[in-house]
Amino acid sequence: MKIRTVDQLDLSGKRTLIRVDFNVPMDKAGNVTDNTRLEAALPTIRLAIERGAKTILLSHLGRPKGKRLPEMSLAPVAPLLSRMLGRPVSFVEDCLGEPAETAVAAMKPGDVLLLENVRYHAGEEKNDEELGKRLAALCDVYVNDAFATAHRGHSSNVAIVKFVKEHAAGLLMKNEIAYFEKALVSPARPLAAIFGGAKISGKIEAIDHVLDTVDKILIGGAMANTFLAALGYGIGKSLYEAGMVDTAKRVLAGAAERKVRLYLPVDVVVAERLEASAPTRTVPAQEIPGGMMALDIGPATGTLFREALHDAKTIVWNGPMGAFETAPFAAGTQAVMRALAESDAITIVGGGDTDTALHKAGLFSRMSYVSTGGGAFLELLEGKHLPGIAALEEE
Ligand code: 3PG
Repeated sequence: MKIRTVDQLDLSGKRTLIRVDFNVPMDKAGNVTDNTRLEAALPTIRLAIERGAKTILLSHLGRPKGKRLPEMSLAPVAPLLSRMLGRPVSFVEDCLGEPAETAVAAMKPGDVLLLENVRYHAGEEKNDEELGKRLAALCDVYVNDAFATAHRGHSSNVAIVKFVKEHAAGLLMKNEIAYFEKALVSPARPLAAIFGGAKISGKIEAIDHVLDTVDKILIGGAMANTFLAALGYGIGKSLYEAGMVDTAKRVLAGAAERKVRLYLPVDVVVAERLEASAPTRTVPAQEIPGGMMALDIGPATGTLFREALHDAKTIVWNGPMGAFETAPFAAGTQAVMRALAESDAITIVGGGDTDTALHKAGLFSRMSYVSTGGGAFLELLEGKHLPGIAALEEE
């Protein structure tokens, strides 16, 4: 199966509809609070402009479920994108019908137009064919650059493809797929995967799947508490998933069977409550006091994880090591970030929380690749074929 990419197409004078993922966080006043996903879309948009396309941008924002909810309008993105591109970006208040058709008909080569939230139409999430057909009618060429939405099979990334004359992946999509393949399909070894975050339940399929591929797996964050419980340790008031203890046992046995080296925290930072002012202690993982909760990996674990990663040639990381948003519990996540930043390995990071931590620490650019996908990245780790990517494949 082959996927064409946007750089292989003649876009000159063509109405080029780019499905982007501008599902960006906004504050109550409608200011975009993190423009990482906009930045990531710029190379494809710039390429389209340089090649003389009439560039039409289509995205979702939030989950309005077919309703025109003003707080989920993409309108605030247009002026910000315009500043980032250094050229005007027009906005039209519907991605379909007369407003969109008139705006597209008035475009000249080099123009950029942002359409309103496609999820204002209930058909989008149902992968409605008619909606796909109507969106396709707006363009000559369709480009999908919305990797972060690729795990959804919706009209704007699946149904539409059937009705367009030409389709291709954008440069971001191409990069995301290439890095993922570098990490898990043909990795330089040893390959290490680091999992963190609150719950095993959301990541168990990914853990199970990568166990067949990785040489080492490191587990931190609150999900490690469930593993500590599986080892029979008391974990006090720590967040854990009672229903996943047997699953954790199965993972431990599965890693041993496959000779995958599995690393768990050897010490943790504990407090009585998750508050910046709460007094903290560092205790061995076997000795979490009854009334306390583990909120970060401890310094010995930071050293252990760094040592475990020292010979890795590829490192994949998903999920923070502790409650990093609260200062006293950020050190473990920072230690792992520094280990990755200083490593010579190919480092591939995915998942919303991890990106935020990297930005906060100023280490974002020190990673080989930071995926824009949260759910999409995880589903790739699970070994799934993503509908948004599958729709782009050609015989
Ligand atoms: C994301 O932020 O993960 C994507 O934009 C997909 O959004 P969704 O989970 O609302 O489908």
